[in-house]
Amino acid sequence: MGKKKALVIYYSQMGQTRDAITAFLRGFSRHAHCDLVQIEPQEQFAFPWKMNAFFRAFPRCIKARPPSIKPLAIDWSQYDLIILGYQVWFLSPSLPIQGFLDSQCAKELKDKPVVTLATCRNLWISAFNTIRNSLTGLGANFVGQITLCERNPVWASFVTTPFWIFTGRKQGFWFFPPAGIAPEQFATLEPKGEQLGQLLANGAALQCTATAELLGSNLGTVSLAMMEWVGIRVFHFWAGLILRLAPTPGFTQDLLLVFFRLSLVITILTVAPCTRIFEILVHNDPKWTAQFSRPLPHP
Ligand SMILES: Cc1cc2nc3c(=O)[nH]c(=O)nc-3n(C[C@H](O)[C@H](O)[C@H](O)COP(=O)(O)O)c2cc1C
Repeated sequence: MGKKKALVIYYSQMGQTRDAITAFLRGFSRHAHCDLVQIEPQEQFAFPWKMNAFFRAFPRCIKARPPSIKPLAIDWSQYDLIILGYQVWFLSPSLPIQGFLDSQCAKELKDKPVVTLATCRNLWISAFNTIRNSLTGLGANFVGQITLCERNPVWASFVTTPFWIFTGRKQGFWFFPPAGIAPEQFATLEPKGEQLGQLLANGAALQCTATAELLGSNLGTVSLAMMEWVGIRVFHFWAGLILRLAPTPGFTQDLLLVFFRLSLVITILTVAPCTRIFEILVHNDPKWTAQFSRPLPHP
């Protein structure tokens, strides 16, 4: 019997998801073949971002208004596993990824085992809940997700990631470390790739204990889960309001987005310290992380 075959479908704007996939495949391809396909949205998302374009993406991410994507020519029948590489935008899968999941092409994921590989700053839970819903909605056999976050202190990445997004400059400055996921974090994906490749090559059931161990995130704290629990609710409120009052991009929408930005700063400044205090009081008990990671009742 020939080597098993996997297909990696991904989008990467700033390069981190591509680097994550490269590290993962270094291990994975020792045991299985792998083809790569890149998602290209019909609408361009320029990097570095302009302030208006960045915030105009917010309500669309939350309320699922993705662009369509360029058609993908894939012979699905030859693949034993699909790996979907994506990134988080506004606590949601990015717009190009949502575009892919919305496309005719994604219907082919039905009955296919799918592993997702996500990169982000540090808030990934809501996007994970959304992507899991979409994949199970498409009838895919969702195995689980490997999540790679930045491990810089939250206060630092809160400054350095936006700075990188708006200027394209990743280097550290003053007392801030470089933005983004550090090389040693990417390196952790190689053994994970190796393990998954081995399981696939051995014909193991992918939904097994061994897979469950290699899936997961390199960051999970009560305070971050709480921030997201609050954040996604605030985001849904604002995105709904903005799209109701100003459904198309323009002056009114931008004005409303200024109010959204203000509320975002106020939310972060008031909620973040409370979440840290709570985390200390409950000794960062994972039970609470799980509690705050539950999906929204009405997505
Ligand atoms: C528009 C936008 C919104 C983002 N929102 C989040 C977010 O809600 N949570 C988070 O942890 N990271 C967020 N990030 C950071 C990205 O998820 C992170 O940098 C990711 O690794 C980028 O992937 P790429 O380099 O493959 O494009 C956002 C980045 C952009 C550009």
